[in-house]
Amino acid sequence: MSLFITFEGPEGSGKTTQILLLQRALQEAGRTVVCTREPGGTPIGEQIREVLHAMGNRAMLPITEALLYSAARAQHVGEVIRPALERGEIVVSDRYAHSTLAYQGDGHGLDRQMLHQLGQWATGGLAPDLVIYLDLDVIEGLRRKRQDVSGEWNRMDEQDVAFHQAVRAGYLRMVESDPERWLVVDAAQPIEVIHQQIWTRIRRLCKGCGLGEQEGDEGWQPSSS
Ligand code: TMP
Repeated sequence: MSLFITFEGPEGSGKTTQILLLQRALQEAGRTVVCTREPGGTPIGEQIREVLHAMGNRAMLPITEALLYSAARAQHVGEVIRPALERGEIVVSDRYAHSTLAYQGDGHGLDRQMLHQLGQWATGGLAPDLVIYLDLDVIEGLRRKRQDVSGEWNRMDEQDVAFHQAVRAGYLRMVESDPERWLVVDAAQPIEVIHQQIWTRIRRLCKGCGLGEQEGDEGWQPSSS
């Protein structure tokens, strides 16, 4: 049975590392996993990503950002996510529609109702089964991101601290309003502890979809054990 999992979090929260660990664990459990990202995930989406994140595009308006992120998402859903889910695979996406609500809504102050409608239109209403939110202090996240020489430092990272604080607060409000769908993990913990917390939740989620834990069965083991 298919499963759609998304990762969200402020800058430097370690999503990439955790997605790699989760991918490995799921594959070791015999599942086909599609790991993808936003903005991007398709050739067209990756081109849109370049426009969105180019340091030279400082004149870009928040509304343009919202439309471009959503355009990339529409392509991503149509070309990658839905087909994979229809094949019964597990899709893990580094960011999805909640990023637009947090960054363009809470960060830039765009109308959340409009953003919600735009998101519904772009995705055809496709919502993730589970959103994993890696929560981290904003200053610490930006510090980590600056230190990561292999990672991308983009136009969005250049926003001021107040913007990033508003984004984080927005995420925490979304968690509160739909706690069943979200798993909040403290991203200041060691990498393996975070992975275990994510893995435990996914095994629990998979109980009902023919994966993982059965009665009297230990189910999947984390990749490290
Ligand atoms: P990342 O790949 O390092 O997570 O960078 C993606 C950046 O794009 C990050 O700063 C968040 C931002 N973003 C938005 O502002 N809105 C969106 O809808 C998405 C998907 C990302």
